[in-house]
Amino acid sequence: MAGAVIVGWGTALPDRVVTNADLEATLDTSDEWITERTGIKERRVGGTTAGLAVAAGARALERAGLHGSDIDQVLLATTTPDRMIPSTASDVQHALGIKGGASDLNAACSGFVYGLVHAHGLIALGARRVLLIGSETLSRVTDWSDRNTAILFADGAGAVVLEATAGAGQLLGWDLGSDGSARDLLYADIGGYLQMDGREVFRRAVRATVDSALRSLQRAGVRATDVALAVPHQANIRIIDAACQRLGIPMERTATVLHATGNTSSASIPLALVDAIDRGRLHRGDLVLLVGFGAGMSWASAVIRWEADT
Ligand code: ACO
Repeated sequence: MAGAVIVGWGTALPDRVVTNADLEATLDTSDEWITERTGIKERRVGGTTAGLAVAAGARALERAGLHGSDIDQVLLATTTPDRMIPSTASDVQHALGIKGGASDLNAACSGFVYGLVHAHGLIALGARRVLLIGSETLSRVTDWSDRNTAILFADGAGAVVLEATAGAGQLLGWDLGSDGSARDLLYADIGGYLQMDGREVFRRAVRATVDSALRSLQRAGVRATDVALAVPHQANIRIIDAACQRLGIPMERTATVLHATGNTSSASIPLALVDAIDRGRLHRGDLVLLVGFGAGMSWASAVIRWEADT
């Protein structure tokens, strides 16, 4: 079976910046509270899920030196499709000139890592190249008068191109899971806004992140101390802090962008990954731990050996 490696990456963020000070003007909240409790200072808002996905996907293709016609499958992880039917991936496929299959994948904030594992599966079954995108417009399902959620969620997209390679490829260990009994802790009904039991989500998020990461590390046959870069879901800096502390991964080896992006669900892990690459924090041969949790409640992690020149 063919292995896969990431050969291209790209992101897209809307132009409009909403700062904590902006939220202070309309909500009973403060920059101090939001910064202390979440780590978020500002977030980006606007655009469509397809528009952001196309922009991020085009950059990932360009970085890989490829065209849409080189891609066999596009997988779009999103909780905020532009329409019920068809998949938002269909818009992306058309806009980027991709000839192969296109589908959406919803595993909430774990969606990108779910997609990463699914993409490896497609390549193991014979696909040559998969474009994997996480794209969200959570601002459209956020009640901007609800301080419990309006301070957290935002919009953005990140994409990677995976390519078949001779040999085992980059994926050393993975873990995908879900506990549907907790599905009502965080949800949005069709046409409705996000509803969340923040405290309970927080408690479970730390546990899910740590347990899933440990399973992937064990399956990869490596230890947390071997990880050069952890890329966790960007929901709350205190969740990241607590989880990384328990895993024994210091913040110097952890990618964070949530101060500037807020929680962008499926887009948060690729946004943090690409930011780390842009800052020269990732090198060929490095072990990377990607780990997400989200509504469902779902969780997903993967340990990969970074094989691209950055
Ligand atoms: N501004 C000011 N005060 C606030 C705000 C706000 N925006 N929100 C709540 N408060 C108040 C509360 O009313 C409460 O006041 P009280 O003590 O008088 O009752 C106090 O602040 C503390 O509230 P908590 O809910 O206990 O605050 P907490 O420290 O838990 O932080 C938060 C809340 C940020 C929501 C946190 O629980 C969290 O991040 N949870 C996880 C959320 C998450 O990750 N969701 C995404 C999952 S991924 C996905 O699938 C989308």
